[in-house]
Amino acid sequence: MTKTILVTGGAGFIGSHTAVELLQRDYDVVIADDLSNSSAKAIDVVSSLGGGGNVAFHKVDLTDESLVAELFDEHPIEAVVHFAGLKAVGESVEKPIHYYRTNLISTMNLLSQMANHQVWDFVFSSSATVYGTPEQLPIPETAPTGATNPYGRTKLMIEEICQDLAAADDRWRMSLLRYFNPVGAHASGQLGEDPRGIPNNLVPFVMQVAVGRRDKLQVFGGDWDTHDGSGVRDYIHVVDLAAGHLAALETLSEGCEAYNLGTGNGSSVLDIISTAEQVSGKSIPYDIVERRSGDIATSLADPSKANQELGWRADRNLEAMLTDSWRWQSMNPMGFADSSD
Ligand code: UD1
Repeated sequence: MTKTILVTGGAGFIGSHTAVELLQRDYDVVIADDLSNSSAKAIDVVSSLGGGGNVAFHKVDLTDESLVAELFDEHPIEAVVHFAGLKAVGESVEKPIHYYRTNLISTMNLLSQMANHQVWDFVFSSSATVYGTPEQLPIPETAPTGATNPYGRTKLMIEEICQDLAAADDRWRMSLLRYFNPVGAHASGQLGEDPRGIPNNLVPFVMQVAVGRRDKLQVFGGDWDTHDGSGVRDYIHVVDLAAGHLAALETLSEGCEAYNLGTGNGSSVLDIISTAEQVSGKSIPYDIVERRSGDIATSLADPSKANQELGWRADRNLEAMLTDSWRWQSMNPMGFADSSD
């Protein structure tokens, strides 16, 4: 029997790539997304790239519990992969009520309705942001947690809620996936990251400069304690990340476990610029400016727990990541706004 998976936030960057991987493995997928930071066009692309399984799409606000209940009444959902949520650090500092309300209430509604419908398998989209300012590099899952902004705290609070649920009832099987820096795009060039407004994250900004939508990149700090003075991160290809969700789903066991999803390799902002210039053939002008508030010098995963327990490894390198990001950006300079209806 085909299994049906509820993917919340399935029109978004990571959710849509994961939905494609699920469909290609013959799962049926129910996508719930309010489209507040994503495009319905992504759903059509997911269906066409996914090939095999069925996709049902519901435009739904998960903070309304009655609508969440309807999803479970309507579909034979056996597991939930939960991406839906707000994710802009700066905005979360400005609008904490909006962040806590959206991220926490939607998750509580989901977990309550899962329990009501006897669905116990849950994969959660967490973030390396739960490590705050790391004391140890690479960062193992056992490192102390402590987020530094409301967005990060919602991730951490949801992780703790999951731990409490699993401790209270041994039917829960939960995986908390702590992503490092997801970049890249689907190899078809039809699915990729499409931020609204000015991108907060590095790679979408770099690609918008390369494609001519923006003049120049600002590099936040040139005096970090790193090999070239710019910030170092563990970038991971979104298709590797999506495969990590499949691996987590298929190895779920009783309880609640956290896993780092990263490569274990660090790249600096200047490494990203030079690799992006090389794969795109475009020059990427930049200025080195002040550090961004809240940034850290280096973030790097120790992915060995996921490698061993999930039997998963991220193997696409930086060149492959940026080649795919560039293919998406150059085929769709304005993101999904370019695709025909
Ligand atoms: C950021 C968030 C993190 C969140 C993640 C989600 C902050 C402080 N952290 O991670 O909580 O989980 O996004 O995707 O916002 N950079 C520039 N110029 C730019 C943009 C970025 O130099 O225009 C640099 C940053 O200083 C950093 C690196 O590029 O060194 C990566 O930045 P970014 O893509 O924003 O990711 P994180 O800060 O790691």
